[in-house]
Amino acid sequence: MPTFSTSIERLRVMLLHEVTSAVAVDLHVSIGALRLRNPILAASGTFGYGLEFAPLINLNRLGGFVTKGLSREPIEGAPAPRLCPTASGMLNAVGLQNVGVRAFVTEKLPVLRKFDTAVIANVFGYSLEDYVEVIRVLEDAEGLAAYELNVSCPNVKKGGMQFGSDPALIAEVVGAARKTAAKRPLWVKLSPLVTDIGLIARAAEGAGADALTVANTYPAMALDVRTLKSRLGNQTGGLSGPAIKPITLRLVWEARKAVKIPIIGLGGIETVEDVLEYLAVGGSAVQVGTASFTDPRVSQRLVEGLEKALFGAKMFTVNEIRDKFIAENG
Ligand SMILES: Cc1cc2nc3c(=O)[nH]c(=O)nc-3n(C[C@H](O)[C@H](O)[C@H](O)COP(=O)(O)O)c2cc1C
Repeated sequence: MPTFSTSIERLRVMLLHEVTSAVAVDLHVSIGALRLRNPILAASGTFGYGLEFAPLINLNRLGGFVTKGLSREPIEGAPAPRLCPTASGMLNAVGLQNVGVRAFVTEKLPVLRKFDTAVIANVFGYSLEDYVEVIRVLEDAEGLAAYELNVSCPNVKKGGMQFGSDPALIAEVVGAARKTAAKRPLWVKLSPLVTDIGLIARAAEGAGADALTVANTYPAMALDVRTLKSRLGNQTGGLSGPAIKPITLRLVWEARKAVKIPIIGLGGIETVEDVLEYLAVGGSAVQVGTASFTDPRVSQRLVEGLEKALFGAKMFTVNEIRDKFIAENG
């Protein structure tokens, strides 16, 4: 039977352990010149403009977040239904609805500046000129940490072919964005639907990308067999969530072998173990998307969990897990 004083001693040791773990693990990561508080970011399209989540979580605890995709003009988006659950995941066809880059700068950014977190602007377009114009508008605004180019959009001028599946097109759009984005780092978010991710990754790196985000959703569809209609207003959509994690994890690993620039991994992250897997295969940071739909606080919870997990594994910086994986697996 423990005495009162031994119980107090046990409690003291437990508390001391908690305090020691919190200060001993350095969660900071560098994505090129950009230093983040920790490697957990919220992903584009699943975190609104960040402001929607401010009443729910402490935005300042995150490594940062990526805004909804921003376009030259406002976009109303796709017809409903826009989301549908699937086995271990979900389909979405939001149609890139957003307020447009100018309204983002005048209405959202001034409020976002009050937070001490990295805000990354996700940029998309249907022509090279669209991408350049969105970045040009953002360059004049204060309060952003980086740009993330979404190259999984159809290029309307080239017959709807995706920018992200052709190395020459990707080099063209990244090169043009690079020239315009003089102020800030340029991340390029790759499509997972490519034959050789290494080829595409090298094309983006060669054209001046500072980091790669791997990867976007997988084109997919689901039917209601009673009506024989698509479960989405837009017929097809993008598959995300745990179903895609093993496929995208391999893409991060392949991309890491192909380029020297940092990689941000995302796809199906829900738990700290998922985060550790992405960091081990080569992610310098990760993003959390679909999981925020079931638990809006998941990204903050993952920051706290990661700190504990690294401490438990006797690792005191984030990169140690990748170094260990590479040392053992090449
Ligand atoms: C509803 C929804 C909207 C999205 N909108 C965007 C977007 O505007 N731009 C973009 O680059 N990715 C967008 N994505 C893709 C996510 O950022 C992420 O790459 C993908 O969902 C895989 O991660 P996850 O499995 O953690 O969700 C969207 C995803 C979802 C589910």
